[in-house]
Amino acid sequence: MFRIGICCCVVVLLMISSGLSVEGLGVNWGTMASHKLPPKTVVQMLKDNGIQKVKLFDADQSSMSALAGTDIEVMVAIPNDQLLAMNDYDRAKDWVKRNVTRYNFKGGVNIKYVAVGNEPFLTSYNNSFINTTFPALQNIQNALNDAGVGDNVKATVPLNADVYNSPEDNAVPSAGRFRQDISEQMNQIVGFLHQNNAPFTVNIYPFLSLYANEHFPVDFAFFDGAANPIVDNGIQYTNVFDANYDTLVSALKAAGYGDMPVLVGEVGWPTEGDRNANVNLAYRFYKGLLPRLAANKGTPLRPGYMEVYLFGLIDEDIKSIAPGNFERHWGIFRYDGQPKFPMDLTGQGQDKLLAGAQDVKYLPNKWCRLRPDAKDLSKLADNINYACTFSDCTALGYGSSCNGLDANGNASYAFNMYFQVQNQDEFSCNFQGLAMVTDVNISQANCNFSIQIATSFSPELLPGILVLVAGFAVLLLLSSIQLSL
Ligand SMILES: *[C@@H]1O[C@H](CO)[C@@H](O)[C@H](O)[C@H]1NC(C)=O
Ligand SMILES: *[C@@H]1O[C@H](CO)[C@@H](O)[C@H](O)[C@H]1NC(C)=O
Ligand SMILES: *[C@@H]1O[C@H](CO)[C@@H](O)[C@H](O)[C@H]1NC(C)=O
Ligand SMILES: *[C@@H]1O[C@H](CO)[C@@H](O)[C@H](O)[C@H]1NC(C)=O
Ligand SMILES: *[C@@H]1O[C@H](CO)[C@@H](O)[C@H](O)[C@H]1NC(C)=O
Ligand SMILES: *[C@@H]1O[C@H](CO)[C@@H](O)[C@H](O)[C@H]1NC(C)=O
Repeated sequence: MFRIGICCCVVVLLMISSGLSVEGLGVNWGTMASHKLPPKTVVQMLKDNGIQKVKLFDADQSSMSALAGTDIEVMVAIPNDQLLAMNDYDRAKDWVKRNVTRYNFKGGVNIKYVAVGNEPFLTSYNNSFINTTFPALQNIQNALNDAGVGDNVKATVPLNADVYNSPEDNAVPSAGRFRQDISEQMNQIVGFLHQNNAPFTVNIYPFLSLYANEHFPVDFAFFDGAANPIVDNGIQYTNVFDANYDTLVSALKAAGYGDMPVLVGEVGWPTEGDRNANVNLAYRFYKGLLPRLAANKGTPLRPGYMEVYLFGLIDEDIKSIAPGNFERHWGIFRYDGQPKFPMDLTGQGQDKLLAGAQDVKYLPNKWCRLRPDAKDLSKLADNINYACTFSDCTALGYGSSCNGLDANGNASYAFNMYFQVQNQDEFSCNFQGLAMVTDVNISQANCNFSIQIATSFSPELLPGILVLVAGFAVLLLLSSIQLSL
């Protein structure tokens, strides 16, 4: 009996440890969604998939409460629009008190990093954060140090990969340098990170390399070999991820910090919104990436362990699509927390669906569609435009799953997306008399007409809440009448 007991324990332990994702693997949990899954549900998804690190884009209380008491390592963040405020040391101290040290107790949140800004030096920001990023970084780390947590919590700045490059006439990783126009800021930042034993954080997007340049060799975006490798001092680069990462390593070396630890703050592949954004290519990308991480392969200039945060966890249907339609479809999970394609976070290459969100509550099976007998179709374009301005129609675009719909299908798709965002409020399915509600699933071959999830504060529930509140008031009134009698 005793022996059997021990055996069982060993088996259970093995099962638990094989359920953990690759060491060093984290995910980005963005929350720019019209309908958010409850934070507790999301944290349970992290646990169910053995994910031990998570990167946030703020320090939202509901996410933090859900993470409290787990061992999950957390990167909290200060958005770009708060960088200027953090140039004031008292404000920075206050931020650290409210968003870091407050959670520093047994059963609190295991905060490891504070992200100061998010890609603040993107060229599209027109230098808006050029002078406020470094002082904010200094103030936050100094405040962490003053609060006595600086040994365990490091401030870092997640930077986009265009803060460094190599010259056009010598486009090899070993020629990597920080961008000329920000070299002063970059030197200050890496010097300060080094002083505080903090890592450099970079976001690397092979998808964007492919998206930005139609002549980019597709194979070079993935990890399964390339016909024409880049050869650099005898090193063969067969994928842009390694080449990009080593361009950074060279830039750090040239700046005098060749050994600085590097985190990859974001890496991933979108599944919709471009001809190269689909489930098959996302599958191929992760199928190459994860086993490399598990094998501690590293890159030619930095072999070994690598800390990497996938972007992202869940689709976000209200993100800006200025960068492209794909922007709302980076999730390894759909908007409702269900997995999109098989992947193995342990890096063993076993194809299986990840564990999805549990007990997801959906709105009823009701869709909004174009009326089959709609008459005045001249109003259609304006109404589609309206619907798509306030909901996510990116799946209709070129290269996306719903691009094959005909004009009527487009209209129904747009009307339904708006109707779902409006929590199926019946008044939102009118469109000047062109639309109607149906309980027939109008999804087509590859194009899902989705049903939104029910969120705790959906207007749909409001009448119920009002009834409850009113009932309570009546009870109070009655009891006070009784008391006074
Ligand atoms: C920091 O905490 C405060 C107080 O809870 C909160 O109002 C604020 O939004 C938090 N900051 C961020 C960036 O989430
Ligand atoms: C940057 O400048 C361009 C062109 O002047 C402008 O269209 C864009 O809105 C600006 N972006 C920001 C973030 O200020
Ligand atoms: C940043 O500071 C430099 C030097 O003080 C100044 O020349 C530049 O105009 C500033 N840039 C912005 C965008 O504020
Ligand atoms: C449907 O909408 C998409 C996206 O706006 C557009 O590219 C496509 O041409 C439309 N299809 C028809 C038949 O109007
Ligand atoms: C609607 O039909 C599609 C395609 O057959 C299916 O994938 C989807 O699950 C259905 N939706 C609901 C809510 O039943
Ligand atoms: C379509 O959406 C429904 C939920 O609205 C989901 O259950 C189903 O798996 C989706 N199908 C596809 C092919 O994405």
